[in-house]
Amino acid sequence: MLDLVIRGATLVDGDERATVVGDLGVEAGRIVAIGQVPGAARVEVVAEGAFLLPGAIDVHVHLRSPGHPAKEDFATGTRAAGAGGITTVLDMPNTEPPTTSPLRLLEKRRLAQAAARVHFGLYLGATADNLDTLLALEDRGQPPVAVKAYLGASTGSLLFDDPGRLDRWLADSQTLLCVHAEDQRLLDRAADRGDVMDVRGHGLRRPPEAALAAVAIATGLAHRHGHPVHVCHLSLARELELLATSAAERPGLVTCEVTPHHLFLSDLDLEALGPLGKVNPPLRTAEDAARLREALAAGRIDCLGTDHAPHLVADKHGPHAPSGIPGLDTAMRLLVAEVLAGRLSWARLAAVTSGRPARRFQLVGKGALQLGADADLVLWRPGPAQALEATELHSRCAWSPWLGRLLPPPPEAVWIAGRLLAARGRIVDDGVRGLEVRTR
Ligand code: NCD
Ligand code: ZN
Repeated sequence: MLDLVIRGATLVDGDERATVVGDLGVEAGRIVAIGQVPGAARVEVVAEGAFLLPGAIDVHVHLRSPGHPAKEDFATGTRAAGAGGITTVLDMPNTEPPTTSPLRLLEKRRLAQAAARVHFGLYLGATADNLDTLLALEDRGQPPVAVKAYLGASTGSLLFDDPGRLDRWLADSQTLLCVHAEDQRLLDRAADRGDVMDVRGHGLRRPPEAALAAVAIATGLAHRHGHPVHVCHLSLARELELLATSAAERPGLVTCEVTPHHLFLSDLDLEALGPLGKVNPPLRTAEDAARLREALAAGRIDCLGTDHAPHLVADKHGPHAPSGIPGLDTAMRLLVAEVLAGRLSWARLAAVTSGRPARRFQLVGKGALQLGADADLVLWRPGPAQALEATELHSRCAWSPWLGRLLPPPPEAVWIAGRLLAARGRIVDDGVRGLEVRTR
């Protein structure tokens, strides 16, 4: 007898194949049957009228462990992910201490294994002197899920502002390099612009030129070495143009991600949000956001990265407001709203949030509704939109720039390796633990 059968849902693959209505059977944490699944299972789910997707993979989160448990930890951050339909998170290295050595990777791994309610992968932070660390990890067959290089300084102490050195990283290593694309030299040049107390001044001090220069550096290096590079959190229509030029030359070499806040907020929201809207890269124009949404719907953006960056509201309103916006609780609901409004297809949603991230980060068993794939599954049932309330949030930081926004209901059910973690926005089995992703 199978452990679980979900019956009669529209099955949306991560590979943009035509959707079909059918059943899906699960045993021992894997998908073992698709189509007509006869016979009763231990758990039967009636899913007619709902859409079953492979669990979303968020390639960019900051869960603040170790270092800032008051803002977030692996338990709270992954409850937010799971309840919102994200079943795998890739955690960034700008923790305290930063994840820059094998020992720190191991320490973070222990924290995640004990507490993560969804699957996880861990980034290594690139520094001026830890290339040898990465090469040793690669030699041992234990590379990090990816490497992160901050070409401009953001929250935390990591900064890699020497393109010459980056050249050696790309020449010598194999691992996917993800870049925070703001060029520190141009940030320095703009450092005295604008009023420090006004969040609009933040946008002037982190101008479009800095992002465009960094994307040009990153794509240039990728092409020179034929090395895969991923550009984090696009914010500008002009970045899309640079990436289109790169793709015309060598498709798939340089990929990109977009955040919910760069899709669904703009500098027009800063008046209302104040310092809550301060983020790196900054919120840009409404036109930029519209062009990013178009690019997403047209398949020109590879991955979802929430850049979930929880900070406490008190800190955000303090004298040196940190940059960052939380997004794990709300990202998928914002995107499903686009689907229900007819601006994005279910197939593209599944591709951008799971199929393509799984392929780009080479995650074994993820991103597909296929026989043998991991049974990380999310069931979406369209329903009436409701205004987002703070009580719905699982992130410890407990705020969202979208409070009050009309959103579709949270997923009806979320399974991690076949175990029901969350239903209708609530955690129903807090004993569920995710595993570290394996890469090919
Ligand atoms: C991130 C954070 O707070 O960790 N902040 C942000 O504004 N995006 C750091 C980052 O990814 O740049
Ligand atoms: Zn980030």
